[in-house]
Amino acid sequence: MKLSKGYLIDSNDLNLNDLKLIFDRTDEFIKSGNFSDFDYLKNVPLALAFFENSTRTKLSFELAAKRLNAHVLDFNSDTSSLTKGETHLDTIRTLEAMGVKIFVVRHKEDGLHKFLQNNTNNIIINAGEGESDHPTQGLLDSYTLKNHFGSPKGVNLCIVGDVLHSRVARSNLILLKKQGVNISLTAPKELLPKDDLIKGLTIYKDLDEAIDNVDVVMLLRVQKERMKSELIKSTEEYHSKFGMNIKRYERKPELIIMHPGPVNYGVELDEKVILYPNCLIQNQVKYGLYIRMAVLSLLSDYIKR
Ligand code: NCD
Repeated sequence: MKLSKGYLIDSNDLNLNDLKLIFDRTDEFIKSGNFSDFDYLKNVPLALAFFENSTRTKLSFELAAKRLNAHVLDFNSDTSSLTKGETHLDTIRTLEAMGVKIFVVRHKEDGLHKFLQNNTNNIIINAGEGESDHPTQGLLDSYTLKNHFGSPKGVNLCIVGDVLHSRVARSNLILLKKQGVNISLTAPKELLPKDDLIKGLTIYKDLDEAIDNVDVVMLLRVQKERMKSELIKSTEEYHSKFGMNIKRYERKPELIIMHPGPVNYGVELDEKVILYPNCLIQNQVKYGLYIRMAVLSLLSDYIKR
């Protein structure tokens, strides 16, 4: 059984059967533990092309590719010929001439991934695209929920905070809706998009109201670097209405807390909260590695050798 598409650009590229294939493969890799390797990408050149900063996504893709025995090239945009005016497409073509078959791309420009995929016979994987999509983050979040609840179907989940700038929120809105999660939102109104994707969703006035009604809160980083004007005047005020702290946690200790990272402590979350067993941030990171191994191994069926 193959994935329905030979690339991963958009969370909409994934149907329910694709999700099952990815999650089943993820289960297998988790069972195999931390020290085994696999030959799905044996000797396949794979480039990590991150034009935006990253810790967990980049390193987990790198480790995933290495565990599948790929030859990993770490393309550094700051020291590359992009600084001499070479285009992104020329860069891909240059690497293709060396035999690179898979490109894991993160870029701030919405639409670049699709443009690159339309111009190559090789495989582009979206590792974060502007404000629009981050499919492997959506996948690892779905997997985290599936693992915790048995199935995400019927789980009540509230996405909290900077939905406007968050590709993570968009990927989750697409993927979680498909799996029957009841999604709601809470955020300052300046941070809510006017978007079809959120049409009809319940919007809670603050985190307290959300906590009373949901099983999971998915906190988002307040993305100051993407704000064109100062949308949040006071972080204290933000935290008092939308931040997770011990007092709120103690009101409902069974509440599940997620955050894609990196966290702004004291804004979205108090540092102490991460020590609580229902705070699944470390699980999200852990599953991210295996989800990326699953995606890469399944896409290896599409490599033109
Ligand atoms: C996110 C991203 O880069 O989109 N982080 C991640 O990949 N885990 C979220 C963020 O930057 O806030």
